[in-house]
Amino acid sequence: MSAKPCSATSSSTVSRSQWPRIVRLVEPQENKTHLAAFARTVQSGLSCQPKSLPWAFFYDEEGSRLFEAICELPEYYLTRTEDGILRRHADEMVAGLAAGGDTGLEPTIIELGSGSAVKTQRLLAAGLRQHDRLHYVPIDVSPSALEDSAQRLTRRFAELKVTGYVADYRRGLERIMARAKGPRLIVFLGSSLGNYEMDAAVELLTMIGQTMRPDDRLLLGTDMAKERSLLEPAYDDSRGVTAAFNLNLLRRINRELGADFAIEAFEHRAVYHPDRGRVEMHLLSTRDQIVHFAAAGMTVRLAEGEMIHTENSHKYTPETLSYLRSRAGFVEEAAWTDERGWFRLQHWRLS
Ligand SMILES: C[S@@+](CC[C@H](N)C(=O)[O-])C[C@H]1O[C@@H](n2cnc3c(N)ncnc32)[C@H](O)[C@@H]1O
Repeated sequence: MSAKPCSATSSSTVSRSQWPRIVRLVEPQENKTHLAAFARTVQSGLSCQPKSLPWAFFYDEEGSRLFEAICELPEYYLTRTEDGILRRHADEMVAGLAAGGDTGLEPTIIELGSGSAVKTQRLLAAGLRQHDRLHYVPIDVSPSALEDSAQRLTRRFAELKVTGYVADYRRGLERIMARAKGPRLIVFLGSSLGNYEMDAAVELLTMIGQTMRPDDRLLLGTDMAKERSLLEPAYDDSRGVTAAFNLNLLRRINRELGADFAIEAFEHRAVYHPDRGRVEMHLLSTRDQIVHFAAAGMTVRLAEGEMIHTENSHKYTPETLSYLRSRAGFVEEAAWTDERGWFRLQHWRLS
């Protein structure tokens, strides 16, 4: 199935030749496919022991809004730290775009899971300092996040063209990379890779590599292993925003899949497991309960104290990054970190 421009944002009044422009591309079957995949994953997660729910479905409109609020929290050092590194080194990071040579073709920055793209503005500003024009292609499963950011970015940067793809990483990337002919930089920020277990992370990175040419670069942001006293509050803040983000997944399942999770009968938990190299988020059932899940004709029993695993956030070391890099077929060209070594951004190219 090919991606077709079947609905435009408010920029539909802007002619295709005008600059800047926003085109939102959605797939015709997106909603049906999405609901079927959502129901299947929820059903299989609730059938397992221990039970799990899919983190990939955190980002409906409310989930995206809550994630933006998380990024502002004092405990959530990730966004601030990564942004500080981007602020200092954005010019070097986009210099790789010139590696595509003097082709005369427009350079493109492609971002996976762009969200609000607030930090990305550092890269876009740097790109526009080095090039007369720039094409920014954010890919995200959240239409609301894409639309809001695309509107904001085209208001801020007069010479920026934005094409947002409502798609998952793989489908979005395969299509974009087949079309963008000029120099390209793929950006994957926020340590979003950390949601994937090691083998799945290798698979995702390998897929990214398969869409790249030798001149392309991947800019990857990863959160590094650190003390429990910093990690756990980052995923369990004092204002309860991360708890609301986690619980919102149950709300979404109730609304979109016709389940009847009693939200008040669950509590948010975040635990760092140094042996597994990750922070795990769970939802704890505070009582014995039965949940009906209409989309799958399923009834689920939960015991008091039973946990549903909702998300992993892996924390990396130089060794785990090097392992991922070599298994996925990349070499490192440059890396940047903050003075405390909490977060790391790296430039990879195909080996
Ligand atoms: C942790 S947030 C990071 C947002 C932003 N990159 C940052 O660094 O703050 C993850 C983003 O990726 C999107 N996302 C999650 N899984 C995705 C997938 N499989 N394909 C495309 N987007 C995805 C979510 O909608 C969300 O906006």
